[in-house]
Amino acid sequence: MINTLIKINAFLKGFIYFLSPHLIFGFLRTPLLFASNILAVSSWIRKQDRKNILDDFYSPVRQYSKRIELYQYIVDKYKLKEEHLYYLEFGVCNGSSFLWWVNSNNNPSSKFAGFDTFEGLPEDWGIIFSKGDLKGSMPKIDDARCELVKGLFQDSLIPYLKSNKLNIGNRKIIHLDADLFTSTLFTLTTLSQYLNPGDIIIFDEFNTPNHEFFAWDIYTKSFYIKYKLIGAVNNYFQVAFEIQA
Ligand SMILES: C[S@@+](CC[C@H](N)C(=O)[O-])C[C@H]1O[C@@H](n2cnc3c(N)ncnc32)[C@H](O)[C@@H]1O
Repeated sequence: MINTLIKINAFLKGFIYFLSPHLIFGFLRTPLLFASNILAVSSWIRKQDRKNILDDFYSPVRQYSKRIELYQYIVDKYKLKEEHLYYLEFGVCNGSSFLWWVNSNNNPSSKFAGFDTFEGLPEDWGIIFSKGDLKGSMPKIDDARCELVKGLFQDSLIPYLKSNKLNIGNRKIIHLDADLFTSTLFTLTTLSQYLNPGDIIIFDEFNTPNHEFFAWDIYTKSFYIKYKLIGAVNNYFQVAFEIQA
């Protein structure tokens, strides 16, 4: 019986590929993925333990400035002002969130690394943003703790990791604000071996179904990552997680 089912399955799959259905139905791929991921985000939200955390769900109006409330909440909750941190931001643009984090920490040994092409998005993001949009000019920062790394993450991150020791025991804050699925998934999977319990991951556009959420969902499921939600604002647009043992 099982053998027959396997044979039917193999025949049908092969025959469908032979028919090249993408020629007629290919346009449905993105909307179907979007619909599937909307359901995934919705179900994911309901599964989170949202007691005793910063969480404004549900809010009818989005206020981008609320992300600062989330940052401050993290700094206060984990007492990060004086802590020796390793902060890595992916998607720096003009440096607004990067500088917030630099200014929030007093420890002279902390390190802050920001990665960006500084030439805008390397590919289209959804139907509104095109390749080259969100171009920022590299901020000038007069703080020896900071380093800005220009280039595609896909070109710059591995060489950076070869010449900088991330596993030096201090807490890492990884801020993912690159918007795109590809950029986010590449960064998460490349940094995965350096993550420790207690490290914090922040997203800036988490609830975009086919991008940051999708990358996090695939990454955490594929690498069996345990995490806890520590705060969310703007209906899970900006979220923060703590990596668990
Ligand atoms: C939304 S902006 C970052 C905003 C910034 N964090 C802030 O708070 O103002 C997204 C940035 O991600 C960068 N980016 C996206 N994918 C990238 C990649 N693969 N490599 C390098 N930069 C990337 C873009 O150049 C863009 O500047």
